Amino acid sequence: MPTFEVDHLSLHYLTRFGEKIQAVSDVSFTMEQGEILGIAGESGCGKSTLVNGLMGLFIPPLYPTSGDVRVGGESLMKRTPQDIRKNVLSQKVSMIPQGAFNALNPTRKIKDIAADVIASHTGGHTSKKDIEARLRERFDLFGMDTERVLNAFPIQLTAGERQRSVIGISTLLNPQMVIADEPTSALDVTTQKVVIRMIFDLLEKGIFNTMIFITHELPLLRHVANNIAIMYAGEFVEKGTNEQVVFDPRHPYTQALMGSMLSAEPGQKSRKPVSIEGAPPSLAKVPPGCRFAARCPVARADCKTQKQELRMVAGRLVRCNYAE
Ligand SMILES: Nc1ncnc2c1ncn2[C@@H]1O[C@H](COP(=O)(O)OP(=O)(O)OP(=O)(O)O)[C@@H](O)[C@H]1O
Ligand SMILES: [Mg+2]
Repeated sequence: MPTFEVDHLSLHYLTRFGEKIQAVSDVSFTMEQGEILGIAGESGCGKSTLVNGLMGLFIPPLYPTSGDVRVGGESLMKRTPQDIRKNVLSQKVSMIPQGAFNALNPTRKIKDIAADVIASHTGGHTSKKDIEARLRERFDLFGMDTERVLNAFPIQLTAGERQRSVIGISTLLNPQMVIADEPTSALDVTTQKVVIRMIFDLLEKGIFNTMIFITHELPLLRHVANNIAIMYAGEFVEKGTNEQVVFDPRHPYTQALMGSMLSAEPGQKSRKPVSIEGAPPSLAKVPPGCRFAARCPVARADCKTQKQELRMVAGRLVRCNYAE
């Protein structure tokens, strides 16, 4: 049975001016235990919004438009943020947020932040001493300078130590699955490697085995994910195995993205990166047809008006009526 089921999920923001921003449209997928799904797409395409929806965290101005999310068969929709925090987060689904610095209360030490977070996710059933002992064990396991980090305020730590502390805290209760939202953005390359190593270690040690990994760095996904979904203007436009999406993309957007990302293989003449002309449509007024049509090098006359559904093309899902 799938651990995680997302069924035609659409999400919108309602701005103060009454404008509806359709940040996520009709996203469906299921995940089995042990799967690592990578989600990639350019800035503003709805990745972080989707993450909130996947955890059932609807805090105004974000609202579910339609659809359902189920963890272990249990729907997360129509539940209060308090209920989700107490009964779902950290235990069933845990998030590693984008930008660790903002996720940490600057006025509390790491050990106190951990105690606050875990207490709010277990209804206060775990003692502060227990939490600290578990965190100490975890930090030791990952070769961190445990005592110094536990007793430090976030500002006293390096960016890498902060991000690893956030990862340590969010996986302390051994969640069934983890959603990592750009866990390495804003870090330098060396620190990125340390953080990725920690995530791999957590997977190898079986602390969790199912993960959604969000990034706009496709080369990274190639090494991490089993399956990859490409998002464009709030929609999944292609979803398949790592091999299919990276080496044989079928949606014109994925093809353009890969063309702009993939560097030449060793020994080959270097390829000039291709940039994609234009910008995605406003999510306040999404076009009725293909959302990529205005930038698509192979668009046909009816693409802008004809609705595009995900369909099977060469063994994976593609949202393009003309892909083959
Ligand atoms: N609080 C908000 N109110 C209104 N619109 C919002 C709000 N937060 C995000 N949006 C809009 O929703 C869309 C999706 O934003 P989101 O942050 O999910 O994108 P993203 O793919 O995570 O981008 P990035 O790669 O930069 O993190 C964007 O158009 C953004 O402007
Ligand atoms: Mg984001």
